[in-house]
Amino acid sequence: MNKNEVLLMCPLYAPTQRRIEEAYHVHAYWTDPDPEALLKRIAPTCKVVVTSGGRGIDGATLAKLPQVRLVSCFGVGVDAIDLGYCGSHGIAVTNTPDVLTDDVADLAVALMLASLRKVAEADRFVRAGKWHKGSLPLATSVGGRKVGIVGMGRIGQAIADRCRAFKTEIGYHGPRRKPVEAQYFADLEGMATWADVLVAACPGGEATRGLVSRKVLEALGSSGHFVNISRGSVVDQSALVSLLVDGKLGGAGLDVFDDEPKVPAELLTLESVVLQPHQGSGTAQTRQAMGDLTAGNVDSFFAGKPLLTPLAL
Ligand code: 8YV
Repeated sequence: MNKNEVLLMCPLYAPTQRRIEEAYHVHAYWTDPDPEALLKRIAPTCKVVVTSGGRGIDGATLAKLPQVRLVSCFGVGVDAIDLGYCGSHGIAVTNTPDVLTDDVADLAVALMLASLRKVAEADRFVRAGKWHKGSLPLATSVGGRKVGIVGMGRIGQAIADRCRAFKTEIGYHGPRRKPVEAQYFADLEGMATWADVLVAACPGGEATRGLVSRKVLEALGSSGHFVNISRGSVVDQSALVSLLVDGKLGGAGLDVFDDEPKVPAELLTLESVVLQPHQGSGTAQTRQAMGDLTAGNVDSFFAGKPLLTPLAL
């Protein structure tokens, strides 16, 4: 029996990719010598696309694949997928919510601790032999700080849960109030003025592009810290860099950037910044769970069963 076809846009967590390759006839978009010819060839028959949160798929590519009825995304963030096109062309989209919430929240808190307590800077200090010549500049206590979370969704709430254990005050900003024990700020600049730490945990995409603006970062100020585990697009990255370079922002812990894996050169030499290679969900356990959902959604589609984690489009 002929295997069902899947267009795979990018490499995935290896065990997930193997599972999909064993069950389906996979067309690998990113390694194909002539991707345009590939799209033409599979247009009459290919019904499923698998991609990642970072890679996504645009409307122009989907328009060349009129039979596609499912885009299964390895990742919770679907900002790189043209959801408008999918919604108006009867294409279902699935993602991997919940299974990565704890790991991403853990990394957000790790970055907050690292930034306030100078963990990476202190590591460099010891390695460079500077301990023999003096002490590390004093850090900032986490307990008692005011943490403003941008986006009180699943991940934002998990960050708030962890912050409670560190005895911080908690505020949040988002389009609407949520039934959570934290102070709501309808105005983000107002929250940044109040906060010692601002954590971006909202979805990426057009609705949040540049939400953490220069003004917001200026309001956070020279003793404030900015943590980003969501998407590089939610912050004005050039403002972020120049404020950090000028010492007008106290520090930053960054897992995500515009145009990854490129990181602004200025950040590479700044002591006040902790840098990560977009690894919020990067544990073996979570990547396995994400892969199970990604492949499970494809299996459900071809078996004619309800999708496991469909998005409401
Ligand atoms: C993944 C992510 O690293 O879930 C998301 O939205 O950004 C991450 O979990 C990404 O999807 C893999 O490309």
